[in-house]
Amino acid sequence: MNRIKIAPSILSCNFLRLEEDIKKAEDAGADLFHIDIMDGHFVPNITIGPMLVEQVRKITSKPLDVHLMIENPHKFVEEFIKAGADIITLHVETDRHIFRTIEIIKSKGIKAGVTLNPSTPLITLEHIIHEVDLVLIMTVNPGFGGQRYMDVMDEKIKKARNMIDKTKKDIELEVDGGIKATNAKKVVQCGADILVMGTEIFHSTDYKKKIQEVRNIISD
Ligand code: DX5
Ligand code: ZN
Repeated sequence: MNRIKIAPSILSCNFLRLEEDIKKAEDAGADLFHIDIMDGHFVPNITIGPMLVEQVRKITSKPLDVHLMIENPHKFVEEFIKAGADIITLHVETDRHIFRTIEIIKSKGIKAGVTLNPSTPLITLEHIIHEVDLVLIMTVNPGFGGQRYMDVMDEKIKKARNMIDKTKKDIELEVDGGIKATNAKKVVQCGADILVMGTEIFHSTDYKKKIQEVRNIISD
């Protein structure tokens, strides 16, 4: 098994001291940063755009994992690539021509991911999984940090792991939503390679202690 990666989600940072929070999380052992882009249409919340991704790019050398929760993602992917994204993940529900958008992302030399709302079946990945670098399983309905992990998604993570293994390709499995020290081990046992963690890290008093706690639990 590869080393499990921890991706703090900056959605739960204090945006008035974003630089400090990101640098502290990097020092604490973050492997990459998860950045949630929401448009108020696909999800009932509005967050940030390429401008802020560009600023974040300047203050960390860690990969930027951009999760697009927006309608018409094809119109914006190039802006996010220019801003410095290393991975762009699209929702299958938002793109009628997702093959084309994945192609655009990969042609710029960065990684392309696909993701699904909790209620969207994995079968929607059947014909595109071979083309992507990452599959993201949502374990909350996207839109907000701090929601409860949906236990019914355990099965979906396991099935996604299987689908990935069958491709024999180097595709990472990321899980996003409600992951805490208390359930991280289970999520890894279901097959995750990357754990997104927002509130659990950024609302803790000591990021290093929290990340270490998670690492100890998952490597037990
Ligand atoms: C939810 C976002 C998540 C969120 C996770 O729509 O996609 O990335 O920031 O936050 P927590 O870890 O607090 O559930
Ligand atoms: Zn996310």
